[in-house]
Amino acid sequence: MKTLNLAMIGQGFMGRAHSNAFHQVNHFFDTAFNLNLNVVCGRDENKLREVASRWGWSETETDWRKLIDRPDIDVIDIGAPNHLHAEIAIAAAEAGKIVWCEKPLAMDVAEAERMVKAVAGKPNLVWFNYRRVPAIAFARQLIGDGRIGEVYHYRATYLNSSGLNATRGNTWRYKKETAGSGAAGDLLSHLIDLALWLNGPISEVCGLLKTFVPGREVDDAAITMARFANGSVGTLEATRYGTGNRNRNMFEIHGSKGALVFNLEDMNRLQFYDVNDAPENGMRTILATGPGHPYVNDFWPPGHLIGYEHSFIATLADFLKALHEGTEFHANFEDGLKVQKLVAAVEESAEKKKWTTLA
Ligand SMILES: NC(=O)c1ccc[n+]([C@@H]2O[C@H](COP(=O)([O-])OP(=O)(O)OC[C@H]3O[C@@H](n4cnc5c(N)ncnc54)[C@H](O)[C@@H]3O)[C@@H](O)[C@H]2O)c1
Repeated sequence: MKTLNLAMIGQGFMGRAHSNAFHQVNHFFDTAFNLNLNVVCGRDENKLREVASRWGWSETETDWRKLIDRPDIDVIDIGAPNHLHAEIAIAAAEAGKIVWCEKPLAMDVAEAERMVKAVAGKPNLVWFNYRRVPAIAFARQLIGDGRIGEVYHYRATYLNSSGLNATRGNTWRYKKETAGSGAAGDLLSHLIDLALWLNGPISEVCGLLKTFVPGREVDDAAITMARFANGSVGTLEATRYGTGNRNRNMFEIHGSKGALVFNLEDMNRLQFYDVNDAPENGMRTILATGPGHPYVNDFWPPGHLIGYEHSFIATLADFLKALHEGTEFHANFEDGLKVQKLVAAVEESAEKKKWTTLA
């Protein structure tokens, strides 16, 4: 086993999700790497000590710059607010580190392009974790096997109701200078990444942004129509005001041979319709926990459900496999840039009230 020494910047929600994955990956998957949780970095020393003790980090640090040139660190993992991603990632890549970064990759396309350049030739990862939800990976397998046929419609929604909590308005996520955008970068970015992964490139978008709270700098809802290169048409809708929903990351795909429906709030299940089925039977509900579904052989026996955290563990396992084998890992910074370009295209289209064509 080789050893990777980790420094993680950001000790919040994603700091917990990543720390958990760092511990769990070798409990479930046979990887070629030992992961050492060397340093956790955030702003609040008291909280850092608590996080370090709970999640097993050896050291704490409040200045991320001090981590960059440390020879005892191999990986810089970025789970800090969006405005810090580019500066940290570029500095880390230039210092020869492996860089893992949360989504959205950057604040804008120019930043994302600089980040892609900086990591060229070095292993890198963007935490678009939903690609590794077994039911979603199985959906991709069905599409790849031709079970959906020619795709007509791709419909996705990310309905979150976090905006209804007024106290959140003061956090970094609701400020332009720290978040870059609102629901567009935060939630629509996930929908776009999945759409590209499941249904291929998007050639044109027609977007709409809405801010419900007067004076707020970022969008509360981001909606777009999309034309895909494969001829299908789509709608993607992300909102922080989807009252009644917590984290309804959902897609529906309709094709000439079948259809698929997924909803993260019921993430172990995938609905599938095959046109050869008796129409009166409607859709089949597949419990995507094995046997034979992606990733699940590494988790529990069939029917023993998995959760949100497993998507991060499986992402990391795939990255470590690619690192060991010297193959390319996705989602990487280039994938993050593609999403960033689409978020920008949606914003441009919303502003101009016109369709935007992707270059
Ligand atoms: N993959 C996903 O599904 C997913 C889910 C949630 C968040 N995210 C992304 O993860 C990132 C972090 O989001 P979060 O929900 O964990 O936020 P959070 O507010 O819970 O945590 C942010 C952390 O960053 C730290 N931080 C802020 N400024 C810092 C600085 N200058 N130096 C070091 N640390 C600093 C804070 O101390 C805090 O620990 C964002 O980019 C967000 O978009 C991704």
